[in-house]
Amino acid sequence: MNGRTSPGSPGDPLWYKDAIFYELHVKAFRDGNGDGMGDFKGLVSRLDYLKELGVDCLWILPMYPSPFRDDGYDIADYYSIHPQYGTMDDFREFLDAAHERGLRVITELVVNHTSDQHPWFQEARQSTDNPRRDWYVWSDTDDRYRGVRIIFLDTEMSNWSWDPVSKAYYWHRFFSHQPDLNFDNPAVREEMWNVMRFWLDMGVDGFRVDAVPYLIEREGTSCENLPETHDVLRFLRERLETHYPGRMLLAEANMWPEDVRPYFGEGDEFHMAFHFPIMPRMFMALRLEDRKPLVEIIERTPEIPAGCQWGIFLRNHDELTLEMVTDEERDYMYQEYARDRVARINLGIRRRLAPLLEGDRRKIELLNGLLLSLPGSPFLYYGDEIGMGDNVYLGDRNGVRTPMQWNGGWNGGFSDADPEQIYQPLISNPVYGYQAVNVDSQRRTPHSLLHWMRRIIQIRQTARAFGRGDIRFLKPANHRILAYLRTYEKETILVVNNLAGTAQAGELDLKDLEGAIPIEMFGGSPFPRIGELPYLLTMAPYQFHWFKLRWL
Ligand code: BGC
Repeated sequence: MNGRTSPGSPGDPLWYKDAIFYELHVKAFRDGNGDGMGDFKGLVSRLDYLKELGVDCLWILPMYPSPFRDDGYDIADYYSIHPQYGTMDDFREFLDAAHERGLRVITELVVNHTSDQHPWFQEARQSTDNPRRDWYVWSDTDDRYRGVRIIFLDTEMSNWSWDPVSKAYYWHRFFSHQPDLNFDNPAVREEMWNVMRFWLDMGVDGFRVDAVPYLIEREGTSCENLPETHDVLRFLRERLETHYPGRMLLAEANMWPEDVRPYFGEGDEFHMAFHFPIMPRMFMALRLEDRKPLVEIIERTPEIPAGCQWGIFLRNHDELTLEMVTDEERDYMYQEYARDRVARINLGIRRRLAPLLEGDRRKIELLNGLLLSLPGSPFLYYGDEIGMGDNVYLGDRNGVRTPMQWNGGWNGGFSDADPEQIYQPLISNPVYGYQAVNVDSQRRTPHSLLHWMRRIIQIRQTARAFGRGDIRFLKPANHRILAYLRTYEKETILVVNNLAGTAQAGELDLKDLEGAIPIEMFGGSPFPRIGELPYLLTMAPYQFHWFKLRWL
């Protein structure tokens, strides 16, 4: 098993640099046994759809036994599958079926905390001398680590909660039912490695590691990004590297790029990390019709080691987080994208891509165009490829976790169960409901978003510069035009985006590329040869172009 590489990726250990990732929830994808909840059998039956879409790697949200008070991020057993999702054999079958199709799979590793239902916590709370006591972080008072911010602002008053059983406080950075593990305890580190080994032996290609900045606590600090946290991560990476080379670790650290940079270490911590601040800035740049927010954040992003890669995304299973923006920018985002307060949660917006963009196909294409052409590996969120809607009334972040819409029939083709039995209602309004927005009807419509997404994915796959190249911004006087060059070895791609809802012209200074012919990548048409003078492009509202440069 060790060092195994999946079919479809001829053993390249840097596979994640070229990969397009697809994030999905087993619960929400396809119900194979008619109990109203998605499962691995159902997912297997939809792998051909994902293959057809053209993605390379699936990121599976938590699939473990859990009381589901945080949608599975509250794990009660790290070594098994939630019975409603299937059996361990179902999981193995899924993994094999994915690999047979050349799809890789990464799963979720929630290291920072467990559910309070986890037997470790149940034991730990029994008595202060229980051997598991030191697996969690306890205190007699609730005034240690003062000043550490609260993340789930809408639900939690403190990072300490009282345990009436052992009569002490326990530390938690998220919900009070998710006690933090104590990573100062070497036994906890070893156990996390055991968990990793268990799934790596089964064949998973890597992990998205949840909430990494919060592993260690120290008095007088923010308890975030501490050097001792990096020690833990280096320990896990070293073990991974020794025993399972070619597998990948992806960090979820919702921080500024300069604070995320250390999570790559010297190439000895994470292979990948999400770049959180790019995300809101794509939405901001679009609304402001100005490239500035995006150019600024990318230009201030530090270099990362050669084997490392950013992960970028438009939407995911959480709120569109506005932690990594200034207060003014947050106000602006709320004003423009969540005027209705019910759409706001914690420091963010609980909406999907299509409704955020008012269902405007041009804006949806433009933002996907950015996602697939800016530096980093893109992560798509299930359902956004068909423009699914959301339901802000479902509470917490559940409104963006509704069942996948496969067709216009019974339960949108998600499940044969009675509609009342579905884990949460399908979207059924006339605009985004499953009768209107679904895979089947988009398959039958050549100009559907789904077909367009397949096409743009195919096109991205023809150039390695997108995944591996560097970026140089061109800065035409017209700031509504966002233009950049992506270069890798001998390949150069020119990307030009019109962020405005009106037609625009941009004059690009391409002197140093004189003589090259831009080939438009969607249709293959040659554009006029680049000369000495500024290169003039006229752009329709929200239009974008990708050109491969050819030298004759
Ligand atoms: C996950 C959330 C989850 C939280 C606590 C996050 O980073 O993305 O969905 O609620 O961790 O586990």
